[in-house]
Amino acid sequence: MKTSPIIALDFPSAQEAYTFLQPFDGGLNVKVGMQLYYQEGPAIVAKLKEQGYDVFLDLKLHDIPNTVKSAMEVLAGHGADLVNVHAAGGKTMMEAALEGLDKGTPAGQLRPSIIAVTQLTSTDEQQMQREQLVETSLENSVLHYAQLTQSAQLDGVVCSVHEASAITDRCGKAFFKVTPGIRLAESGTQDQKRIATPAEARHAGSTHIVVGRAVTAAKDPLAAYEMICAQWEGLK
Ligand code: C5P
Repeated sequence: MKTSPIIALDFPSAQEAYTFLQPFDGGLNVKVGMQLYYQEGPAIVAKLKEQGYDVFLDLKLHDIPNTVKSAMEVLAGHGADLVNVHAAGGKTMMEAALEGLDKGTPAGQLRPSIIAVTQLTSTDEQQMQREQLVETSLENSVLHYAQLTQSAQLDGVVCSVHEASAITDRCGKAFFKVTPGIRLAESGTQDQKRIATPAEARHAGSTHIVVGRAVTAAKDPLAAYEMICAQWEGLK
């Protein structure tokens, strides 16, 4: 995946996603999530790849190891550049995911990178402690999941910007820190709790940022995207 911002195509149909993409130059990093994938199926990934986009297929698999392994074997054939699971599924599940991906990657093609969601960026510490009965801090929980993910040989994690630098200290610079919950200073938080700006993400050592509504719901999406790129690249 290129290091440019990953735009979350959280749209109900391919038609709406393509209408949104029209003003942009090709070659963007895009994310296909559950809504678009469940509506359009594997064809949406193939079509975006054909058109030169790098694709993060964000389906957050979380099931017993054998089921995740078989699902990843299928997903490996879709041509996405990056896929993911929930670290809460456990080390054996993550290893199975990787095994499935390796097995399903067509000969001569690169295996998609695979990362694990630590704690969702819509979760805050109080909620985690109350609802998951996790007694440690949110940062500790995320760090624990990051190390578990690394021990399963995955390529990195999804985390918030607030944990990115601590993860780099423990897991190294090359370990992916893909950070959603990105907002420009003036945009609202919506359902996200652990948010940050693109500049904060760069300073914290995120390797990739995921941007949804700050671009897709902007009055001028192209201008919002350019502003985010400038902040992410340290030009503003
Ligand atoms: O609109 P917004 O920028 O909040 O969208 C964030 C995107 O990143 C959504 O598609 C959401 O599903 C995804 N995501 C997230 N938190 C994670 C993993 C993925 O917000 N931990």
